[in-house]
Amino acid sequence: MTKKIVLLPGDGVGPEVVRESRAVLEQVGRTFGHTFEFSEHAIGGAAIDSHDDPLPKSTLDACQAADAVLLGAVGGPKWDDPKRKVRPEQGLLALRRGLGLYANLRPVRVHPKLASASPLKADKVEGVDILFVRELTGGLYFGQPRLREQRDGKVRAVDTLEYTDEEVRRVVRLAFRLAGPRRKRVTSVDKANVLESSRLWRETATEVHKEFADIALEHQLVDSCAMRLITAARSFDVIVTENMFGDILTDEAAVLAGSLGLLPSASLGDGTNGVYEPIHGSAPDIAGKDIANPTGTILSAAMLLRHSLGLTAEAEAVERAVDDVINSGARTADMAGAGGEALSTSAFGQRVIAAIRK
Ligand code: NAD
Ligand code: IPM
Ligand code: MN
Repeated sequence: MTKKIVLLPGDGVGPEVVRESRAVLEQVGRTFGHTFEFSEHAIGGAAIDSHDDPLPKSTLDACQAADAVLLGAVGGPKWDDPKRKVRPEQGLLALRRGLGLYANLRPVRVHPKLASASPLKADKVEGVDILFVRELTGGLYFGQPRLREQRDGKVRAVDTLEYTDEEVRRVVRLAFRLAGPRRKRVTSVDKANVLESSRLWRETATEVHKEFADIALEHQLVDSCAMRLITAARSFDVIVTENMFGDILTDEAAVLAGSLGLLPSASLGDGTNGVYEPIHGSAPDIAGKDIANPTGTILSAAMLLRHSLGLTAEAEAVERAVDDVINSGARTADMAGAGGEALSTSAFGQRVIAAIRK
């Protein structure tokens, strides 16, 4: 079977972690007898430099024609001046919106050997298994108006938090579906005590719940949810929430897993073509040193195999290889709190490749 995979390395550590994930996919191809056709395209700061555009049309066209997209990260100090008209992050947002990827799945599992890598007490993080479903194409990130103006001698800036019932319904419905084969509990997170958009969110979640009699639904306010993630993370199964709350809560949840570098994600819409990326950013503080953790991107490649290519056994082989490598004591610097041997990005990637088997 030949499948077209677009690689978008992006900025900072992006190219370093995508390189390892590509090598892992190539090994999967050899082991299972598939041909993956890779093509690399520019996005983010790199695309601003080469094309004057954070999402060149040629990149979006290639992503639309591909079976799946694997992305590293975008952004960095070079393009960070707040006065800039065009930023790398706009490329990522335009890609998500352009492909209609309204749901971002962010699984958070704590590897037993890494419980001590978390700054939290091991007994708080052991056994954690949460699936975040983050709404990805609405809310504050995309609402209009968005503006900056002079008014009455003051500078005024506006962002708009907007959702339609349809936007809420489709992502909440997906969360209920995904809870079915899991522990059948959905926590819908909002700020319904203050925000009108959250009151619509809560009403809509309650209405969609009627289609899923065997799934339990609870509502939780985002501030106390942030606390419960630290005090009682095991009590969560699936968490569904709006774009910005999901962005913030998942970086917080990375602390449970032991490092931001470990967490993968899948951005999905109604088609089969998704974008797969680690949840972390371009990590400018460690870029170019071959020390970034490639695990989040490698596990994103596993999600790509499962969700866009329908290759379940292959996805499991990658996940098992990562587990085996961590069990063997291999680490990157960010996981070193749990003891073991701190390897470079490429050496860690090599270990994963060597551990892939049918
Ligand atoms: P970041 O996620 O890049 O880094 C936060 C911290 O986590 C840093 O200390 C970094 O070294 C560490 N870290 C991140 N990934 C790691 C990895 N794979 N291995 C080891 N350590 C890792 O967040 P930031 O510093 O706030 O943002 C930097 C840039 O990245 C910004 O321009 C931001 O807009 C961008 N960003 C992009 C994405 C994306 O492309 N999806 C996501 C988040 C942030
Ligand atoms: C993420 C990132 C992005 C987001 C930024 C870079 C636009 O933080 O993927 O989590 O906020 O969605
Ligand atoms: Mn983020």
